[in-house]
Amino acid sequence: MKYKVLVLSVLAVIIYSCASKSSVPTTEVKNTEPTASTKPAPTVMTAELAEGKSLYENNCAKCHKLYDAKDFSAEEWKPIVSRMQKKAHLDDLAGQKIYNYITMN
Ligand code: HEC
Repeated sequence: MKYKVLVLSVLAVIIYSCASKSSVPTTEVKNTEPTASTKPAPTVMTAELAEGKSLYENNCAKCHKLYDAKDFSAEEWKPIVSRMQKKAHLDDLAGQKIYNYITMN
C-alpha cells in the first residue's frame, strides 16, 4: 500500500511537470519596426499600400538610399515623387501608389 502511494505521487509529479512544461506561455514578441511604437495609429496596410511599398522599395533605391518617409512631409513629398517617378520611369498611377504609401502615417 505504501508503495502504491509512492508510485502514484511520483506519477503525479511527472504528469505535473510535463503539463506545466507544455503550458509555458509563448512570450515571443513579433519584431516590429523600431519606430512602430512612436507612430500614433498606424494605418492598416491595404493591398494598394503594399503595392506602393514594393514599388517604392524596388524603384526608389536604384540611384540613392531609400529615403525615410518621415524625412519629408506629405506636402514636400508631392513634388519629389512626381520628379522621382520620372527618373524611375514610373507612370502617374505608380507614383500615386508610392506617394500614398510613404504618406500613409
Ligand atoms: C534615376 C535615378 C533615380 C531614381 C530611380 C530615383 N531617384 Fe530620387 N534622386 C535622384 C537624384 C540624382 C537625386 C538628387 C538630385 C535631385 O534632387 O534631383 C534624388 C533625390 C531624391 C530625394 C531628395 C529630394 C530632395 O529634395 O532633397 C528624394 C526624397 C528622392 N530622391 C526620392 C525618390 C523616390 C521616392 C524615388 C522613386 C519614385 C526615387 N527617388 C527614384 C535619382 C533618382
